[in-house]
Amino acid sequence: MSLITHDVHSAVTILLTGGIIGLPTETVYGLAALAENKEAVARVFSTKGRPTDHPLIIHLSPEADIDQWGHLTPHARTLADSFWPGPLTLLVRRTTRVPDWVTGGRNTVALRVPSHPVAQQLLREVNTGVVAPSANRFGKVSPTTAEHVAADLGDDVDLILDGGACSVGLESTIVECIDEEVRVLRPGSISVADIEGVLGRSVSPTQGESRAPGMLASHYAPRARVVLCDSLPAAQELFTEAGESGVKARIMWHDDIDDYAEHLYADLRAADSDGCSVVFAVVPSASGLGAAIRDRLQKAAHRA
Ligand code: TXA
Ligand code: MG
Repeated sequence: MSLITHDVHSAVTILLTGGIIGLPTETVYGLAALAENKEAVARVFSTKGRPTDHPLIIHLSPEADIDQWGHLTPHARTLADSFWPGPLTLLVRRTTRVPDWVTGGRNTVALRVPSHPVAQQLLREVNTGVVAPSANRFGKVSPTTAEHVAADLGDDVDLILDGGACSVGLESTIVECIDEEVRVLRPGSISVADIEGVLGRSVSPTQGESRAPGMLASHYAPRARVVLCDSLPAAQELFTEAGESGVKARIMWHDDIDDYAEHLYADLRAADSDGCSVVFAVVPSASGLGAAIRDRLQKAAHRA
């Protein structure tokens, strides 16, 4: 029996009765549970195989009262006003409503208001906070279609809500706003320049490994080895050499940077399903969305 459905009401009922579901968002698919249901959140951690000290993002509808969940600084409020609903996660001091099992006991919470219409409908109907880490097993490639979630998690989820292929394709930009500080902990489609543009000030660069556990050096990794290439001709040369020595390989490259992000994870998955042993990935320039793609490619290429 297929767990994949377009029926939002069934998904809402499952969440409200303590189940876990695959949830479409504009970035990647999430593995969702009610934030305040301890057993359901525990099942999210165990299904992913994720350490419980790697905290989860709480997702809220555009109408939700954010102040019930987090203390937004003036900078955080400006970013929320500019980029929500959308692929931005704000890391702020938490309120007493936020359960310890979501944050691993930290005094901060990650909050996001997604723009995907199906996610919004679900969040409105459940009318409370929903945790949703990416719906992949820990350390593996994030899912950008309902079928990816089914392939990864199968019967371990109660239902997969199908909202089509994710339009962004990369996880949200995470920005920590504590006191006067603004720091980008995970690059995404909302770039450092976008953030600096609305705040009118410079922000601390990415590199928040210790502050946002889960952003380990090796992550987003397919089975195939990922080799980073500076240019398309360099990738083509390596691809030809691989072919000559009987190694099944694939080139990863999209001219359009939005297309590259949108298809990045699907391309990595396709390499595995086609039985490729190596992927030659052309690294885009580091401006804007390119920075986020480089970050994911470097992690996919890293071998512990
Ligand atoms: O686009 C996204 O953000 C997707 C979709 C489903 O919304 N979700 C997602 O969740 O990427 P996840 O759990 O795969 O990544 C969230 C990251 C993790 O690295 C986690 O450690 C960090 O955010 N994080 C969450 N809460 C935190 C906190 N209180 N302090 C530090 N890091 C936190
Ligand atoms: Mg993830």
